[in-house]
Amino acid sequence: MFNKICIIGVGLIGGSIAKVARQKGLCNYIVAFGRQKGLTNLQAAKKLGVIDEFYLDIELAVKDADCVIIATPVGVIEQILKKLKPFWNEQTIYTDAGSTKGSVVDAARSVFSEMPSNFIPAHPIAGAEKSGVEASQVDLFKNKRLIITPLKSSCPDALNKIIKFWEKIGSNISIMDVDHHDAVLAATSHLPHILAFSLVDLLGKKNEQVDIFKYAAGGFKDFTRIASSDPTMWLDICMANKKEIVLLLQQMQEELGNIEHMLVNNESQQLFETFTYAKQARQRFLNQLDNHMSQSITFNVQPGGKLRGEIRVPGDKSMSHRSIMLGSLAEGTTHVTGFLNADDALATLQAFKAMGVEIEGPNNGEVTIHGVGKHGLIEPKEPLYLGNSGTSMRLLSGLLAGQSFNTILTGDKSLSSRPMKRVTDPLTAMGAKIETQEGGTAPLHITGTSELKGIDYLMPIASAQVKSCLLLAGMFAEGETKVTESASTRDHTERMLNGFSYPVNVEGNAASINSDGKLVATDIDVPSDISSAAFFLVGASIAQDSDVTLKHVGVNPTRTGVIDILRLMGAKIEVLNEKTIGGEPVADLRVVSSQLKGIDIPEKLVPLAIDEFPVLFVAAACAEGQTRLTGAKELRVKESDRIQVMADGLQILGVDAQPTKDGMVIQGKPIDSIGGGEVDSHGDHRIAMSFSIAGLRATAPIIIKDCENVNTSFPEFPTLATQLGLNLK
Ligand code: S3P
Repeated sequence: MFNKICIIGVGLIGGSIAKVARQKGLCNYIVAFGRQKGLTNLQAAKKLGVIDEFYLDIELAVKDADCVIIATPVGVIEQILKKLKPFWNEQTIYTDAGSTKGSVVDAARSVFSEMPSNFIPAHPIAGAEKSGVEASQVDLFKNKRLIITPLKSSCPDALNKIIKFWEKIGSNISIMDVDHHDAVLAATSHLPHILAFSLVDLLGKKNEQVDIFKYAAGGFKDFTRIASSDPTMWLDICMANKKEIVLLLQQMQEELGNIEHMLVNNESQQLFETFTYAKQARQRFLNQLDNHMSQSITFNVQPGGKLRGEIRVPGDKSMSHRSIMLGSLAEGTTHVTGFLNADDALATLQAFKAMGVEIEGPNNGEVTIHGVGKHGLIEPKEPLYLGNSGTSMRLLSGLLAGQSFNTILTGDKSLSSRPMKRVTDPLTAMGAKIETQEGGTAPLHITGTSELKGIDYLMPIASAQVKSCLLLAGMFAEGETKVTESASTRDHTERMLNGFSYPVNVEGNAASINSDGKLVATDIDVPSDISSAAFFLVGASIAQDSDVTLKHVGVNPTRTGVIDILRLMGAKIEVLNEKTIGGEPVADLRVVSSQLKGIDIPEKLVPLAIDEFPVLFVAAACAEGQTRLTGAKELRVKESDRIQVMADGLQILGVDAQPTKDGMVIQGKPIDSIGGGEVDSHGDHRIAMSFSIAGLRATAPIIIKDCENVNTSFPEFPTLATQLGLNLK
């Protein structure tokens, strides 16, 4: 791309740019300019082969260079520009790597009176606590963000060349304006550094002599890691971005003041909410980061063992979502118990908070929703981020289509690749205005309208999400909305609408609704999720000498396909203490070990066990003979392609599992059923938990990668599974 690059300042950043530019063949020749004071560093750079030559005279350094990169601390950029001015060349491209951009543009304006069009300001968001050329790394910028802040006057060719240069280096490019860059960086980088420096300063001065550092634990070390950064550089950055930083420091002081107030006045609920909000916000932030940057969790399961004991698994995910949606639109206060405190349900809760609903909790499964009435939601300030949750996105698209405001629904990588046309097509037929991405995926841009019309819709796929979406839209549509399904799917929406006194007419396989009703607040007791219980229904069946009782599980007949299928395979499951709570059947399930046998799974059971197939495949691997699943192509568009991902993993574990277009054929083995190995859950919670259960019948350890999404439905899984006897770390 360039013949000669001149780097001004070969420290960590400048040195790393030189190394990667050479490795990727982006230039022929690299020189550096530095001051006498930095001579040893320049000599080291040459000796290490990072640069070809260095100069203490700037004229010689920049002569014939077609690219000059200023990689000094931001505080000296003005001096450097003054030195460069007499030799400024219109044909050369100039850029920098400073952490603040307003100060760099100001410096250029003060030296040149206006920003030269061939000077393109840039900022690689990468660094390390170490400095100097010795610390430079060839992959410092790989997969890291690189922000370019061009001005209106920037030369388009120069800008394109700088974009290409950083793309070739492997960075992810963002283009921003200068002020926005400085505001964002003040919050995400400069303030955290100041907090780390000031905490160590405070505690160091106070207690260093005593034993603060001796006893400082991981939290202190994690929090203060960045206080090991270069003080000169950070002094420069803070001075250069003073205006933005001071604003944030004031807000931070206010926040600390609030926390002090809560402590002094024993306001434990408020404090708990502050911490809970922060924890959830951080999780959403991690989910939004590219996979490589987010925390990665690996499960390690030792082979064998048995499951014994009595547990209550967390609340039903489908009902938890619906309790927030209907409770928010109700008149009055709804109390929910047994609410699922996991990312998917929290995404829905957060979305309604963002639309002006006051919601307290979850606190030990209790949530209080101060309903705003059917027409009381307000426009959210930001797009609604729904993480991994398909139910949130599909149900909300119906509920929001008929509002008086617009919304944007976004999600993580998996959710952004799942099909949304199944809801947007019938909604559009009702008069909704929803734009999807090409291919019918999220983000969804919903323009609210008061002109929805009822529809008589025969669902082409068996989907409770589609049915519920249309019923929720029907609450805001003129005339009747009727949804007919060809195979039964879970009916929690219909039941819960009933619980909230909203008229919904169910006849045979059709449900109808109109806009005449209103929702009256009620109390909801969410039973345990049979989809979470399923892991232990299978686990206790396949592991010898097991006996597990799962308390208070929702056994709505539209959800018990897993019990029916396991019983057909010979499992011993007893349904005890059956009762109806809030319109939903609930029971305790006792399961003991049994030798399963392979079966052809009846297709009519597929929608009734749709989320349980990953773990049923594990059951099939341990059964005697062949198990065949057909009519389940929906599994290919769940949180992952569950047919392919399970077949891949089972094959790695030595199981004969053949994927088909709409199911799987598994040749089970009663002895040495499953081997060991490393499998990938592809960020799908149910895959991660299913392979963990496989460990009970494995002959060697199973390592499962990418398990953080277990938090979307069952954060307690590792604890409860271990408590029952699974050897999981
Ligand atoms: C759900 C319906 C099912 C299920 C999902 C939850 C719901 O999806 O897989 O986990 O709460 O309505 P489909 O409707 O797409 O089958």
